[in-house]
Amino acid sequence: MTTPFAVIVDAAAYAQAVEDAVKASAAYYTGGTSALDDDAYDRLVRGIAAWESEHPEQTLPESPTGKVAGGAVEGDVPHTVEMLSLDNVFSPEEFTAWTASLARRIGHDTERFSVEPKLDGLAIAARYTRGRLTRLITRGDGRAGEDVSHAIGTVEGLPAELAEPVTVEVRGEVLMTSAQFEYANEVRTSHGGAPFANPRGASAGTLRAKERAYTVPMTFFGYGLLPLADTETALADRLGGLAHSELMTLAGELGVNTTATTAVPGVTADTVEQVLARVTEIAALRAELPFGIDGIVIKADLAADQRTAGSGSRAPRWAIAYKLPAVEKITRLLEVEWNVGRTGIIAPRAVLEPVEIDGATITYATLHNPGDITRRDLRLGDHVMVHRAGDVIPRIEAPVAHLRTGDEQLIVFPEVCPRCGSAIDTSEQRWRCENGRNCHLVAALSYAAGRDQLDIEGLGHTRVVQLVEAGLVADLADLFALTRDQLLALERMGETSTDNLLAALDAAKAQPLSRVLCALGVRGTGRSMSRRIARHFATMDNIRAADTEAMRQVEGIGTEKAPSIVAELVELAPLVDKLVAAGVNMTEPGATPPAPVTDDGSASGSGSGSGSTDEGASEGGPLAGMTVVVTGAMTGALEKLSRNQMNELIERAGGRSSSSVSKKTTLVVAGEGAGSKRAKAETLGVRLATPDEFAALVADHLDPL
Ligand code: IVH
Repeated sequence: MTTPFAVIVDAAAYAQAVEDAVKASAAYYTGGTSALDDDAYDRLVRGIAAWESEHPEQTLPESPTGKVAGGAVEGDVPHTVEMLSLDNVFSPEEFTAWTASLARRIGHDTERFSVEPKLDGLAIAARYTRGRLTRLITRGDGRAGEDVSHAIGTVEGLPAELAEPVTVEVRGEVLMTSAQFEYANEVRTSHGGAPFANPRGASAGTLRAKERAYTVPMTFFGYGLLPLADTETALADRLGGLAHSELMTLAGELGVNTTATTAVPGVTADTVEQVLARVTEIAALRAELPFGIDGIVIKADLAADQRTAGSGSRAPRWAIAYKLPAVEKITRLLEVEWNVGRTGIIAPRAVLEPVEIDGATITYATLHNPGDITRRDLRLGDHVMVHRAGDVIPRIEAPVAHLRTGDEQLIVFPEVCPRCGSAIDTSEQRWRCENGRNCHLVAALSYAAGRDQLDIEGLGHTRVVQLVEAGLVADLADLFALTRDQLLALERMGETSTDNLLAALDAAKAQPLSRVLCALGVRGTGRSMSRRIARHFATMDNIRAADTEAMRQVEGIGTEKAPSIVAELVELAPLVDKLVAAGVNMTEPGATPPAPVTDDGSASGSGSGSGSTDEGASEGGPLAGMTVVVTGAMTGALEKLSRNQMNELIERAGGRSSSSVSKKTTLVVAGEGAGSKRAKAETLGVRLATPDEFAALVADHLDPL
């Protein structure tokens, strides 16, 4: 979708627009927080450009369309070759039109493109003299930049010494990864500073700050390698002749970090279609990346093509930025709600002035936990930077400190559970009602009865509320003790509904252990983790007998999670006993218990139990050893299966289920409407199957649902 233009109606509005854009741009390059988010800025600049093309005689010299953004300050270091900006495209059509204009300029189709993520940080030039890092310079106005050599040693990916004693300039982007950003704000607020609104502002501020009492690490990704005045002629000539992709390989060999180390490495592509497929792939991975990207940069790869295309005053003609929709917008924090979840966790949620991000209207954002609110120094009424990428729940990054008016209000933390009034356990990051999962019993029971857990038809939210309010159930096990008379006495419960519900409850008792475990709602375990635990241990008795060490043997349970899962199971023991007494199944069909551990600590026996093989996969079966991803709508024999049931089926048939396609994926079941996952499977050469082909493959395992 093309970003719409800001409509400028007269010369006064044009002058105002230029002023706003210049201010926003200055804030952007100096680490301040702009009052305009990226989207608003792009719209404004496009509006300015549209006005200028109609009224070229009125173009102001400071217009952001005509010059390299940013501004040089006296005393800045001149760049050997100007550090240019990039022009933007916003759609496949605009990109295709750009390739056509490039082809006209160079007299033939571009032979090869390089495609890499557009990293959302700050451009920097790093000068190496005989292999030693001697100077760091910001982009400034493109012709000269600020000397920020004091930051040498704090930027990961820029080694103090290269693998060879060469004299070169490496250009690239300095940014903060999410972890570095979290750390930066933690350190900064603990030193009394206002938190940075986002990683970009944090890198800008950190890079320029001298004499800080603390250091905050950042990360560098190189995207350019060029000779300096002192570079030996042979090397300078060599660099001048290398393709962009070759320069990046060389940079990596010299020890400089490049995108090659990330999940979205730079690649080359021969056709426009290949470039667009890569754009789709990078866009699909964006939400999972540990650093921000705001687009994809496409370059003519060959040095000869670049030379023929040349550069304009602002940007090269051989490269373009394919902008992705903005994932950040500024809006206001109106309120904080405290919601109790089904396990008793009390989670703060931000209520926002509605804002549109990438096509969705955002009204709520997660605030994680109370510590997070304190760390970010959030207040009611604050302008906040809201981040939303992919299907991930939107989150607030930080207040935009300079937009504070002084009228903002402190956020009040609850002193007792906002739901039941019990005390709050604040000993962990996530606060919890001391009443635990009994606090929000309706939520806990509705979840347990859900389709992916015990799948109790007829036990929806309203019915659960009725049962709880009538005092008939006080925990999950009580459901199985309900009598016909008790149910019949309830409002809107006829004979048929009662018998159906009793039959559904009876059937639920036979659900596999994995679903029973999931229904219990052990904190830190969802559907797939519950399946892995159940398959690993095979019986509830084994699970309960497991200590932290034994729990750690389950794939995906690390040192951190194991103790809390073991503790949760202790807390749940009385409920589990009650469920056992009610006749609920506590075994996992098809799973073999782990071999008992002998005195010397090693597993005895043949070692062929499921405990010593892949978790989530039973032995043998048509999918043995395969990792399978399901995408798109299922049809035919699989039509009624939820994603969770598909994953269960895969695991019953011996395979491992996964939600993302990678080199490790062996099969992608792609139904109608499959999008980026199918595209990725095609690019990686992963085998694809239709739902019907897959159903035939696992026909023997389709049954037990
Ligand atoms: S190439 C002459 N490659 O985007 C070509 N730039 O909006 C100049 N950027 O100033 C840059 N990732 O700070 C290039 N892979 C990448 C990039 C990248 C981020 C930044 C860079 C540039 C800005 C232009």
